[in-house]
Amino acid sequence: MNNFYAENINHIKNLSKEEFEALFEFTQVLNSPNQQESLIENAIDVVINVINAERGLFVKYDESTNNFSIISARKISNESITDLNQFSSGILQKVIREKRPLLYHDVMGDPNLSQFESVQIHRIKSVIGVPIIRDRKVWGVIVADSTLDRREFTEENLIFLNFFSNLVALALDRIIKLEELEKENRILINKLQSTEEIPEMIGNSPVMRNLAQLIHKVALTDATVLITGESGTGKEIAAKAIHQLSRRKEKPFLAQFCGSIPDSLLESELFGYKKGAFTGANSDKQGLLEAADGGTFFLDEIADISSALQAKLLRVLENMEIIRLGDTKVKRIDVRIIAATNKDLHALSKDGNFREDLFYRLNVFPIKMPPLRERREDIPLLASHFVKKLAQKEIPIDSSAAKKLEGYYWPGNIRQLINVIQRAVIICDSNKIYADHIILEDSKDLIDFKGTLGEFEVLLLKKRLEEFNGNRTLTAKSLDVSVRWIQLKLKELNEQ
Ligand SMILES: Nc1ncnc2c1ncn2[C@@H]1O[C@H](COP(=O)(O)OP(=O)(O)OP(=O)(O)O)[C@@H](O)[C@H]1O
Ligand SMILES: [Mg+2]
Repeated sequence: MNNFYAENINHIKNLSKEEFEALFEFTQVLNSPNQQESLIENAIDVVINVINAERGLFVKYDESTNNFSIISARKISNESITDLNQFSSGILQKVIREKRPLLYHDVMGDPNLSQFESVQIHRIKSVIGVPIIRDRKVWGVIVADSTLDRREFTEENLIFLNFFSNLVALALDRIIKLEELEKENRILINKLQSTEEIPEMIGNSPVMRNLAQLIHKVALTDATVLITGESGTGKEIAAKAIHQLSRRKEKPFLAQFCGSIPDSLLESELFGYKKGAFTGANSDKQGLLEAADGGTFFLDEIADISSALQAKLLRVLENMEIIRLGDTKVKRIDVRIIAATNKDLHALSKDGNFREDLFYRLNVFPIKMPPLRERREDIPLLASHFVKKLAQKEIPIDSSAAKKLEGYYWPGNIRQLINVIQRAVIICDSNKIYADHIILEDSKDLIDFKGTLGEFEVLLLKKRLEEFNGNRTLTAKSLDVSVRWIQLKLKELNEQ
């Protein structure tokens, strides 16, 4: 490479004004935050313009299989070319072998090149090929050709292109490393956000054993899974278990909470965006669905997404295709989708509050997490599991305490059980857990309640509001009513 440079350094002085200008323009592209694809598209544009070619393309080369794949291609009219056969593969092979830019005139007359059908069909006269070299290997090739017998492809063009390809290689190197780091970073952040590691799913009741079997079976497939169940029943750990038991387990498990997040933010998180898609989109950004490629994607609280996003998700589920915001290019992804909700999605879809077609796409394999009160026999097992985990030693649970735990109706399910055990572990003197240590905030009032249904409703609402520090959104969620319902109730109460 150095020799080639030294030999040709004088020629650089002969670069045309146009070429210098193109280089200058391109250095500005290099300096802006970019992604591989935009960089490559810009690079092809520069090549086509400067050497006055009619078509140009960038192919990536895979050394291990000796295969080429088109990353981007352009005709002078800017339409896309998708078939590599339309180009001369002879020149690609030669560039790979010689690892330097090559230029041919009179391609039809050259027996080595004219044998290719593509050359014949397209009546190619001149062709130029420039390798992009990374780590001393040909990473890709820019090819441009022309059917006119113009002598506009010159030796100077080659010098220019060699210079240019080094710039592209440097920029690509930076971008690829950055993209890898970004992806890794996103996966790590997402892992941290979904806090708990996968615990064993504790439970010996028939319903849990049945569930475990289902999870094992569905994990072997790529079917979309819809997990339903009340809050705290273990929907998220079921989703993680499916991923862990699947062939995708080495690939990312990414999750997105879809409840109470502004639509535009959720959309850009899921689908990513192209630079300039909206104010503040200063660079291209990969979405989580793309980052999860090869792995599993968990859409948590799916019932809350807007109808616009529902339409986009339908497209993902139907075709495994996504389009970044502000982009036109369709990308294929390979992601297994698991969705969860504590709402009755079927009922919502019947009432027109959720797309019915999306519901059926999600509900390919439904899994219902049972509430804890429907598998009370698991409570002692779960309780001692959490005691051991939280106290980091075994503390026996007195039968009085066990009875209290088993008798409760657990509106917050396992999450609530964990909280109750946490408190018990703190207040017991670490010898034994007695009934007194089990504090079930609303059990007395609610279970032994003697009043009317209306009064019960008010009591429950007040308790719940207290529990959530007056936060109406969370209260509404836990009671499975709308925030508006709560507002109306409170208004009614004030009037009384
Ligand atoms: N079978 C189980 N064995 C042990 N721990 C469990 C089990 N099921 C749930 N948990 C634990 O209970 C807590 C709540 O579980 P998870 O977050 O999966 O529930 P969820 O259904 O997603 O709740 P929400 O609807 O509130 O998001 C977690 O800490 C989880 O580890
Ligand atoms: Mg959850």
